[in-house]
Amino acid sequence: MYYHKLGKFPQKRHTQFRRPDGQLYTEELFGAEGFSGSSSLLYHHHPPTTVKRVEQGAEIKIEPWKEGLLRHHHLLTKDLKPWGDPISGQICVLFNDDVKISLCLPKDEMNYYYRNGEHDELIFIHKGEGYMQSQFGRLPLRPFDYIVIPRGTTYKLHFTTDDNRMLICDSTGPIGFPKRYVSKMGQFMENSPFCERDIRVPEEPLFIDESGEFELRIRKQGRFHHYFFEFNPLDVVGWDGYLYPYIFNMKDFEPITGRVHQPPPVHQTFEAHNYVICSFCPRKYDYHPLAIPAPYNHSNVDSDEVLYYVEGDFMSRKGVEFASLTHHPGGIPHGPHPGTVEKSIGKEGTDEYAVMIDTFRPLHLTMAAKEMDDGHYPYSWIDHA
Ligand SMILES: [Fe+2]
Repeated sequence: MYYHKLGKFPQKRHTQFRRPDGQLYTEELFGAEGFSGSSSLLYHHHPPTTVKRVEQGAEIKIEPWKEGLLRHHHLLTKDLKPWGDPISGQICVLFNDDVKISLCLPKDEMNYYYRNGEHDELIFIHKGEGYMQSQFGRLPLRPFDYIVIPRGTTYKLHFTTDDNRMLICDSTGPIGFPKRYVSKMGQFMENSPFCERDIRVPEEPLFIDESGEFELRIRKQGRFHHYFFEFNPLDVVGWDGYLYPYIFNMKDFEPITGRVHQPPPVHQTFEAHNYVICSFCPRKYDYHPLAIPAPYNHSNVDSDEVLYYVEGDFMSRKGVEFASLTHHPGGIPHGPHPGTVEKSIGKEGTDEYAVMIDTFRPLHLTMAAKEMDDGHYPYSWIDHA
């Protein structure tokens, strides 16, 4: 990310900066990789260390589905019932040591602040509007937003709509843009399918001046930890730096097309340790006179492939529906459903939107995923012939 600033701060870092009452503001370095990575400098009204009470919170249990079978999966999530709040309502369906993939249809308001104390998060807003309020300011939310949240960010998600749906990646490694899209100086280059103008950064309001009792739930090492303060922890009056949450909307992705079928890396949007996130967006089809727009069969020998179907008619699949999620594990081939190859010839373009998550280590399904599984899917390449 690039340099951004909001609010007020001293001209020189690590120098005296005083509140209207003459007390010093408290400076905090919010940094990745110790003191060696990207960072921001924040100025708090109260010292962020002045916690009044700490309580143990709930354990976060992920129960694996030990199916013992290598096969394709299709999770039907359309009819999931809203449950919990934007944090407690997250249902993990796939996981490995690099990423946990969850769905969430929040029903309740968050009456606390939240911080992921060890992992970055990427939240895809499928349905819903509202805002995310963090110590870096406010990010208004709308459908198809990808929110990237660095570990350690204190925030609350607030929806102003009733029908809300999110896809979440809890990421062991940091999430960023593909290195091949940016110059040595960090600027998006002409070959990138998006650029700085497509990225939304935090804005006012920033400083929330409130006293009372405020709860912060920190997620770390498989459980929540409840911290209580006598002031609103979003008490930052100003900050600047390179580490902060931001938003890229999937509809701002400009697809890269060719005369013949282009492989998934042209859809890449984010990269993280051992996995990538791609955006399939409406685009013109391949324009070679004999082109076959549908993808060829492929064996993801080294990776698992997850597709979350967002909107439109996905041209290579039959039987998938709104918010379907398919998991094609490495080691076996997958490809277009019968009939879709012929049907794609001569078509001008597609209106599909989908999020793809390709992991380089195997994913495991959870018992929650078992409840959503369409057991017929592995045989759908025959039945649809
Ligand atoms: Fe694929």
